[in-house]
Amino acid sequence: MRIAMIGTGYVGLVSGACFSEFGVHVTCVDKDAGKIERLHKGEIPIYEPGLDKLVEQNVKAGRLTFTTDLKAAVAEADCVFIAVGTPSRRGDGHADLSYVYAAAKEIAESLTGYTVVVTKSTVPVGTGRAVEKIIRETRPDAEFDVVSNPEFLREGSAINDFMRPDRVVIGARTDAAKEVMKQLYRPLYLIETPIVFTTVETSELIKYAANTFLAAKITFINEIADLCEKLGTDVHDVAKGIGLDGRIGKKFLHAGPGYGGSCFPKDTLALVRTAQEAGAPLRIIETVVDINDKRKRAMADKIIAACGGSVQGKTIAILGLTFKPNTDDMRDSPSLDIVPALIDAGATVKAYDPEGAHEAQKLLSGITYGNSTYEVMEGADALVLITEWNEFRALDFNKVKSLLKSPILVDLRNVYEPETMAKAGIHYTGVGRPSIAVKE
Ligand code: UDX
Repeated sequence: MRIAMIGTGYVGLVSGACFSEFGVHVTCVDKDAGKIERLHKGEIPIYEPGLDKLVEQNVKAGRLTFTTDLKAAVAEADCVFIAVGTPSRRGDGHADLSYVYAAAKEIAESLTGYTVVVTKSTVPVGTGRAVEKIIRETRPDAEFDVVSNPEFLREGSAINDFMRPDRVVIGARTDAAKEVMKQLYRPLYLIETPIVFTTVETSELIKYAANTFLAAKITFINEIADLCEKLGTDVHDVAKGIGLDGRIGKKFLHAGPGYGGSCFPKDTLALVRTAQEAGAPLRIIETVVDINDKRKRAMADKIIAACGGSVQGKTIAILGLTFKPNTDDMRDSPSLDIVPALIDAGATVKAYDPEGAHEAQKLLSGITYGNSTYEVMEGADALVLITEWNEFRALDFNKVKSLLKSPILVDLRNVYEPETMAKAGIHYTGVGRPSIAVKE
């Protein structure tokens, strides 16, 4: 079995490396010659725990190769995955499918023998059919099937999510295509992973429905957190109390600064547009999008309030800039709204992120980037935790107090306990948690 993986972005690279670990021959293709060159040297363009080792192992075993030659990779493949980007289209929020369609055309020109063409990228309902049409029109003689096989990988734990998924979703029309997909995922059958076979269109919708549901779940707990702040109740306990109900489930109930990343913001927006055009608007998701956008900006006000109502002339130390830990991804990170708002309000910002500084520098100017957790705190008027990297979970608060001008901590991820912070002499603000006065 041979796979050609078109696109060596996050999804393509992780999926390609994982399939090769399953024992399949994988050729990862990208137009970016520089990227392929770096991959040949063993350099991984993204930060994802465990990916470097997985790539190295499988390259050594001869199961994983990288190339810019799409034609050759597709010609010898039994299965071609389209894993190119589907960013939000400027202006209307729809997914931009130009890369998918361009890939489909190129693939069509190179097909030899029966080939299964799989859309791995997140694509709106109807894209599979459009891909099929493009291939058919380009190569009327080609023997192929189009399959939808969305990914549910989380950045930071993508390899585990691929190897031990909750489920695999496959939208396929023919038995031949189903058989190829079954063979590819054979190792998952051994660990009894549920495999959902359905139509291409339903599979496409499952991906969007899953992501928008999770975005709504996060938004729900974020609004409950706001209510907790008004009522003096604790969102942490509310999340626990409701999450133990099996129908609700405890995951994705961590209140925070709003969801970000490469998927939720763009997928919520794209499904909203699809639903509006289909005449069945998803009002709940429209509201989720609106609340989440406003929430990121509201976090700056929360920080300003914790600093006594003004940050004019003050220095704010920030821990974590990426949209979540264990990634260098800055896409739609809450920090992109929070930091500029603080600067606008007259603050000087010093920030540290274990892996994200390089990406952050492209998007956030006018701030100082520190090299370590404690370095940025020196002489700052307040400390703000935006991303819950492990190394921020066990701060030495004696040291923190000795470095900060005033012991203020705004913890946008609820990493710390309000009571412990009060005892440590820290003026603590969490998200949806009661404030406990420090005994002076
Ligand atoms: C998500 C989906 O989980 C994954 O299945 C899909 O394939 C891609 O999109 P990812 O964007 O990597 O994965 O991160 P995820 O862990 O889902 O977090 C998304 C955002 O929600 C982050 O900004 C995170 O901080 C936030 N979040 C998540 C919360 O604020 N609270 C939570 O309880 C969970």
